[in-house]
Amino acid sequence: MEKNFIFNLSSEDTKASGSVTWQSPSNIALIKYWGKTDPQIPKNVSVSFTLSNCNTQTTVRYSPKMSSSDGFDFKVFFDEKENQNFRPKIEQFFERVVEYVPFIRNFQFEIHTENSFPHSSGIASSASGMSALALCLMSIQKSIDPQLSESEFNQKASFLARLGSGSAARSIEGPVVVWGQHPSVYKSNDLYGTKYSGEIHDVFTSFHDTILLVDKGEKKVSSTLGHKLMLGHPFAESRFEQAKDNMSRLIAILKNGELDSFIDVVEREALSLHAMMMTSDPYFILMKPNTLEIINRIWNFRKLSGFHICFTLDAGANVHVLYPDKDKNAAVEFIKKELVSFCQNGQFIEDTVGNGAKLLH
Ligand code: PMV
Repeated sequence: MEKNFIFNLSSEDTKASGSVTWQSPSNIALIKYWGKTDPQIPKNVSVSFTLSNCNTQTTVRYSPKMSSSDGFDFKVFFDEKENQNFRPKIEQFFERVVEYVPFIRNFQFEIHTENSFPHSSGIASSASGMSALALCLMSIQKSIDPQLSESEFNQKASFLARLGSGSAARSIEGPVVVWGQHPSVYKSNDLYGTKYSGEIHDVFTSFHDTILLVDKGEKKVSSTLGHKLMLGHPFAESRFEQAKDNMSRLIAILKNGELDSFIDVVEREALSLHAMMMTSDPYFILMKPNTLEIINRIWNFRKLSGFHICFTLDAGANVHVLYPDKDKNAAVEFIKKELVSFCQNGQFIEDTVGNGAKLLH
């Protein structure tokens, strides 16, 4: 229940100053979250691989607030330069979480943030960015309340991150995180992501994700609007059922390591996500011609070679190419020879499944 996350404090508790730094990863969904109700409650279960190389590093410096104003007192620095563009998103995040971390009204903050991936690469930084900030707030809470256990800390970090950006709920731990209630996933719920505690075959803990940067431009339709368009969407209910069924299939696959079935579920999910966009009112397409070219080449290569290489998509034109470690050499050679020419400026990022956020300082 939400009220379990409310932290009560006395004004004496917020006299301290300090600084905390977290590095938090991005994640790639295998079962896609698309459709929500307020406040960021998902309409279906989703599950993701936590990534490793794509991450956000955020330092929060805090000290007692000097002004007597009721508003939030913070400055944001992106890549060491003060940044006004991030302010509204952080202001909105603070408004959503203040009920649970009321001390944020008593401090003034300097937030320094940077991403490991190139700026405006078309890679969503909201999952890694919001989870990093949520973790920093949790470290401040822990400095006030040292008794907080690790599992309480992670749960609440994910709960807060979710209020910033839904998919950020899945960026605290790794290697596989579930968010959204599912009858067969222990402790799964809509309020925060949980590390998947079922059996995971070794093949998945060293999986690779090469992210092909097909289009780095600003998206024409934001995910906020995309989620909204699922309310009243003619295929919504069957889509939410499909996600639930795919999760049931994936539970068995994660255990037995059966890669043909894995590919079937993952690609089906990616195409269903985009099918929802193409059948919304208004309809829209986020894939580009090169997205389709890459998909077709992956299918051809897989058919001819038998290697277990597949794709998934986010809410954008970029393609995530997934493959097991045993197929790495062949996959990398294929990607460089046949796919990179369809990326904007030949750009791609090699990533692997990771184990979650790290406290750096
Ligand atoms: O977290 P949001 O609101 O940006 O939504 C992200 C949705 C997808 O990336 C398309 C799917 C997912 O589950 O991550």
